[in-house]
Amino acid sequence: MLDVSNLHTGYGETRIIRDLSFKAEAGKVFALLGRNGAGKTTTLKAIMGLLPVFEGKIRIDNRESSGLPPYKMAAGGIAYVPETRDIFPSLTVRENLELAARLTPNSGAAWTMERVLEFFPRLHERLSNGGNQLSGGEQQMLAIARALLMNPKLLILDEPTEGLAPIIVRQIHDKLQELKQEGLTLLLVEQNFGFATSLADQVAIIGKGQVVWSGSSEEIRADKETQHTWLGV
Ligand SMILES: Nc1ncnc2c1ncn2[C@@H]1O[C@H](COP(=O)(O)OP(=O)(O)OP(=O)(O)O)[C@@H](O)[C@H]1O
Ligand SMILES: [Mg+2]
Repeated sequence: MLDVSNLHTGYGETRIIRDLSFKAEAGKVFALLGRNGAGKTTTLKAIMGLLPVFEGKIRIDNRESSGLPPYKMAAGGIAYVPETRDIFPSLTVRENLELAARLTPNSGAAWTMERVLEFFPRLHERLSNGGNQLSGGEQQMLAIARALLMNPKLLILDEPTEGLAPIIVRQIHDKLQELKQEGLTLLLVEQNFGFATSLADQVAIIGKGQVVWSGSSEEIRADKETQHTWLGV
């Protein structure tokens, strides 16, 4: 589904990612792990067309997508939930969702307004609340709901559990598990090692701007030395 090969990217003249490669298979969950500042968000931004690809290739379903602008990535079925969530604070939950539903180039497909509200009953209760009145967990649910309204084939999530209470983390976990069971492909960036490895099939660790380790969730859970060296777990 997603094939990143020999990617170099960064900000201005600064190369943060140097020669990074990984492949995320369709219908699976792929987790990108790494310490603070390792370049996880930078990698996602390059995939989404928010940062330039200096070298290397990004392919979606065997089609080259390097250098495409973000709206074309969305039209191609790639939805992105950024670390900052980017809820519109002055719009209500309903308005945030309606905007996403209106902007999607893939409407009429599986995810409708009714279905996302069934999927996140909490948002249903909060429909007329402003984005700025939501808890962190509700904001994250809204951000995921908006992404689902784009009817993606690949959902990219940057640290969905950041700053959330354990009980909310568990709820988000169960929702992502449901999406996985439906066959949606997920690319997950996480600091929460337990959360990531309980969802992911495959894991890659970024260090020094490259993939320094890759394998299955079971393998990384058993590999205390790699956890210690590259994740500080
Ligand atoms: N806008 C920017 N301009 C210049 N350098 C940046 C910018 N954003 C991030 N960086 C640098 O790029 C490197 C990687 O940052 P990035 O945000 O990708 O890390 P991360 O792995 O997502 O970390 P975290 O777990 O803290 O979110 C860091 O050294 C950071 O200082
Ligand atoms: Mg980040």
